Amino acid sequence: MGSRAMVMALMCALVMVMVPQVLGKRYIVGGKFGWTSNVNYTVWASDKHFYKGDWLFFVYDRNQMDVLEVNKTNYESCNTDHPIGNWTTGAGRDVVPLNVTRHRYFVSGKGFCFGGMKLSVRIEKPPPPPRAAPVKSNAPTTCYRSQYVFPLVFAIGAVWDSFLRVTG
Ligand SMILES: *[C@@H]1O[C@H](CO)[C@@H](O)[C@H](O)[C@H]1NC(C)=O
Ligand SMILES: *[C@@H]1O[C@H](CO)[C@@H](O)[C@H](O)[C@H]1NC(C)=O
Ligand SMILES: *[C@@H]1O[C@H](CO)[C@@H](O)[C@H](O)[C@H]1NC(C)=O
Ligand SMILES: *[C@@H]1O[C@H](CO)[C@@H](O)[C@H](O)[C@H]1NC(C)=O
Repeated sequence: MGSRAMVMALMCALVMVMVPQVLGKRYIVGGKFGWTSNVNYTVWASDKHFYKGDWLFFVYDRNQMDVLEVNKTNYESCNTDHPIGNWTTGAGRDVVPLNVTRHRYFVSGKGFCFGGMKLSVRIEKPPPPPRAAPVKSNAPTTCYRSQYVFPLVFAIGAVWDSFLRVTG
């Protein structure tokens, strides 16, 4: 019983450690269109919540566009002379971790910002786990339950065992 409960507890601990890491969501900026002109990224972002721990994935034509992070002023004016971040790796597939809770502004240089290739996201504090993952929260609940159920089953078994021994 001891070792079985121990294995159970270890497995539960493992699940609980791994679940939060799976929770971070990866957004392909622009969805099926990707990072390109003729997409309104304000509209794209409007029905989404971005949480700290999520990721932005920019997929685009590396020969034409790039991914620059700018401040609010330069986002509005499309000034890319002094970006605060250059996420361009050269592959046309750039990943940006949303690891701070504030507004962040991304544009493409090379003139594309003026055509509307600009994205502003508000990164929020992640909601408490039950709201973030109603489905996944089942795992720990099951763990708690089986941690009680297994000893209970063994206890009943032991009592039944001794009962048989006494009467038999
Ligand atoms: C953004 O940076 C520019 C300099 O490139 C500066 O003049 C401006 O005040 C900054 N805006 C904000 C909101 O920090
Ligand atoms: C951004 O970084 C890429 C890759 O290092 C580089 O080729 C490009 O010139 C940089 N762009 C700007 C605007 O600094
Ligand atoms: C966020 O991620 C960037 C890039 O990986 C890193 O340079 C920066 O230090 C991180 N910031 C925080 C607050 O973790
Ligand atoms: C995107 O759509 C919004 C809402 O319809 C509009 O206000 C905004 O000007 C559009 N942005 C661009 C760059 O076209």
